[in-house]
Amino acid sequence: MLSFRTRVFLLPCFVCSLLLFPMRILSGIQPSGTLHLGNYFGMMRPAIELQNQGEAFYFIADYHSMTSLFDAAQRRKNTLDVALDFLACGLDPKKSVFFRQSDVPEVTELAWLLSTVTPMGLLERCHSFKDKSAKGIPINHGLFAYPVLMAADILIYDSNLVPVGQDQKQHVEVTRDVAIKFNEIYGPTFVVPEPRIREEVAKVPGTDGEKMSKSYGNTIDLFGEEKALRKKIMGILMDSRTPAEPKPDADKNLAVQLLRLVAPPAVAAELEERLRAGGLGYGDLKKALFENYWNTFAEARTRRAGLAANLDYVNQVLADGAIRARILAQTVLKRARKAAGLE
Ligand code: ADP
Ligand code: TRP
Repeated sequence: MLSFRTRVFLLPCFVCSLLLFPMRILSGIQPSGTLHLGNYFGMMRPAIELQNQGEAFYFIADYHSMTSLFDAAQRRKNTLDVALDFLACGLDPKKSVFFRQSDVPEVTELAWLLSTVTPMGLLERCHSFKDKSAKGIPINHGLFAYPVLMAADILIYDSNLVPVGQDQKQHVEVTRDVAIKFNEIYGPTFVVPEPRIREEVAKVPGTDGEKMSKSYGNTIDLFGEEKALRKKIMGILMDSRTPAEPKPDADKNLAVQLLRLVAPPAVAAELEERLRAGGLGYGDLKKALFENYWNTFAEARTRRAGLAANLDYVNQVLADGAIRARILAQTVLKRARKAAGLE
């Protein structure tokens, strides 16, 4: 018979749920720019759906944003924008603990404890800093050590499941390795988490067909000004085939791929079929994409305007979330400090 400690710390989450331990779900997003469809379908929507299936902890990773954003006023504004976006899209503070990462400073102490058991080679293999370096962005120590702080974010809440997009998978794997290493050295201390990546939205394409990302200038924002967004969608480049020509490769068309995300399945399938058969022009296809995208977020847009007019409520949600998150973080940090002989 396994001991209680072993059960809690080492068994995968499906066994935990069988044993009636509530599954803890955690994710974070950096306030480093305007949120877009890739963020929404890859991370926010899966996270929001999961808030009904366990104890959800979601936070705004403002410490992490310090590795690449050096404008304090901009960080403050982006942080509030992320809070508004998330709440408008359906994060329910009655179901989820929603907070700012830096309101739980314990996480930086845990990051130090973890950094002492993190092999350099593990961090050197991480593609996030290598990609930035390849683009000529100077690498600071925070950017290099970024995955260790992320590991602390995850481990300090005894998280079982981490819903993220494909590009964050490696960071969750680093977290697992670091947790296992710490547990081996100091005894069972941390829950070993699992990433949750939805294959169909793991890599939402941007307006140029590459992964949608705020660093590539190819995003379709979640919220924004109608005229500019319509222009962006109508400006998506297509090939030079005439409307009448059949398009046997209709499923690979970028507007079709995005339509599958924002339109009801039957509508997306019908437009794809018309494109395949010939007779549907790219202009009309992009118009349909814009209309469906705009309608999909209509309710959230209204909710966001309401929240923006009630910032006291939004700040209160984050303050309440921080209190709840901090209580748990202090318990787990204490466990780690004791295990490491600091207490
Ligand atoms: P960006 O690439 O725009 O800087 P972030 O790195 O801040 O986005 O990502 C925040 C979250 O959104 C992460 O969980 C990430 O995996 C997810 N995400 C970002 N872009 C996409 C995309 N194009 N497709 C799917 N998920 C994405
Ligand atoms: N690195 C994540 C991103 O850029 C944000 C993040 C920080 C995060 N800490 C986390 C995501 C912990 C999940 C779990 O999107």
